[in-house]
Amino acid sequence: MADESKRIALIGYGAMARSLQASLLRSEAGVAVAAVLVPAEFAPPASEIAGLELFHDVADLVAWRPSLVVECASHDAVRDFVPTLLRNGIDTIIVSTGSLADKSLFDDLEVAAKVGRCRLTVVSGAIGGLDVLRSARSAGLSKVAYTGIKPPIAWAGTPAADRMDLTALLEPTVIFEGNARQAAQLYPKNANVTAAVALAGVGFDATSVALLADPGTATNGHRVEATGAFGSFSIELQNQPLPDNPKTSWLAALSIQEAIVRHFSSVVV
Ligand SMILES: NC(=O)c1ccc[n+]([C@@H]2O[C@H](COP(=O)([O-])OP(=O)(O)OC[C@H]3O[C@@H](n4cnc5c(N)ncnc54)[C@H](O)[C@@H]3O)[C@@H](O)[C@H]2O)c1
Repeated sequence: MADESKRIALIGYGAMARSLQASLLRSEAGVAVAAVLVPAEFAPPASEIAGLELFHDVADLVAWRPSLVVECASHDAVRDFVPTLLRNGIDTIIVSTGSLADKSLFDDLEVAAKVGRCRLTVVSGAIGGLDVLRSARSAGLSKVAYTGIKPPIAWAGTPAADRMDLTALLEPTVIFEGNARQAAQLYPKNANVTAAVALAGVGFDATSVALLADPGTATNGHRVEATGAFGSFSIELQNQPLPDNPKTSWLAALSIQEAIVRHFSSVVV
């Protein structure tokens, strides 16, 4: 049973939001989504959001006084809505982590959270091991490298598709090499993991990134390797994509659920 005092609103209602909503309803977490904020031009069909409050304007959502807002939409949504929510004292979780590669947006969000005396939480998303990076960095990290390997279809609509025929690839092909700031800007819908690794570790400029299209894989692969005073660390995930969006890993939606449950928990592990 959902607790009525936990008023959760989502920003956006795409593949991730729908997966989260269904998963929360199946779970015994005792929390459920009650409202959705989407600009009128992105509004989902009424049948998809039956039973949910629908807001087009962030001021109306603020007036509804959510206890927690979860952004599952886009970089623009973070920029357009999240500073207002934080300034109004509303705790907010974001999943479009790549947006934080924009230093001025990052600074605005930090100030807004301080003014509103509330918290912005960045989910771990499709990756793990961020706790190791966060812990290890205080002793010094000499190298953090991220490699993302996805099926060619996951790179449709990105700069890689302008440079090569993704459907004709016969072997794993490097489509980008650079740092996390460049990756987040060039591949905004695919580089959220890159941003999470950068934020937890050595920052956007010092995190090296390689992105590959692999016709031989059906999963979204992520590898993080780090070396520092603590020792060394390597983690690799093979994530199942969401059926509705091959760019998005199911684990990313699950990480939002976990962040929501943690938010309301008395004991946090
Ligand atoms: N952190 C991670 O590991 C991770 C992993 C995968 C995806 N993501 C990010 O999560 C977000 C959602 O992913 P998805 O798979 O649900 O995408 P999606 O395209 O399926 O859905 C996005 C939804 O947001 C809505 N939207 C777009 N711009 C908006 C705006 N300005 N305001 C409000 N709503 C807006 C769209 O109408 C759509 O309904 C994307 O930004 C994606 O890049 C993060």
